[in-house]
Amino acid sequence: MLSTNDIRAKFLNFFKSKNHSIVASDSLVPKDDPTVLFTTAGMQQFKPQFLGRDLTYTRASTCQKCLRTDDLDVVGKTDFHHTFFEMLGNFSFGDYFKKEAIAWAWEFLTGELKLPKDRLWVSVYKDDEEAYGIWLNDIKQPKERIVKLGDKSNFWPSNARLNGPNGPCGPCSEIFYDYGVNPNCPNGAQCDPDCSCGRFSEVWNLVFTQFNRKDGGVLEPLPAKNIDTGMGLERLVAVVQGKKSNYETDNFTAILSVIKETVKSNSGTMT
Ligand code: GLY
Repeated sequence: MLSTNDIRAKFLNFFKSKNHSIVASDSLVPKDDPTVLFTTAGMQQFKPQFLGRDLTYTRASTCQKCLRTDDLDVVGKTDFHHTFFEMLGNFSFGDYFKKEAIAWAWEFLTGELKLPKDRLWVSVYKDDEEAYGIWLNDIKQPKERIVKLGDKSNFWPSNARLNGPNGPCGPCSEIFYDYGVNPNCPNGAQCDPDCSCGRFSEVWNLVFTQFNRKDGGVLEPLPAKNIDTGMGLERLVAVVQGKKSNYETDNFTAILSVIKETVKSNSGTMT
């Protein structure tokens, strides 16, 4: 069975073989970015590259330590949400764009990790015919497993077009793993990746960063088109290890068994 460490290494090696510079994770409190308190995504340390201010390299890949509080209300209630997590990512700064980003994501999941193709669904931004066409015609993804979603789900940052924040943003395409019909889902077999019943785990978000949002919701085209992808390592590991919950993977079982033992051995001394 592939471990969390194996999967992280496989991802970075795969993108190294596609001529990406492998860059270390940035600090959880970003060094030079007064717009955010914590690092919430792999792209954050690359803002100068996305804005065309630093082109030391045009392709990079990372495993970034992240802290997110925007979905704090569901942490502990679902199998897939965390506050702290690791995010795998590959980035293009004015180099490759949608065609390569989609093809390499598919090659990594189905070729390197050998995930069954019929378990993978994708979503695209409702107006992004280019991404839709690549999935349908190049990848040969059946149209029954491609869904078109709106600004909340398929624009990154979520709803940025309407609500901000300012900075690099764009439409995105997500890849989901289908755990099979949830008998308790009110939508039954008609359920799709927009449903929150737990049938679908969103594993990878491919963001086509082509705008710089400014005050008033102005979307200024960036000097060059970019790619920013984010894949939650813990979710991917759950899928690869055949677990429904991130907390049942090798990354957590050792920690949880120490906690269980500690609680058991201290329970007699608690008042
Ligand atoms: N930067 C892409 C993501 O966080 O999903």
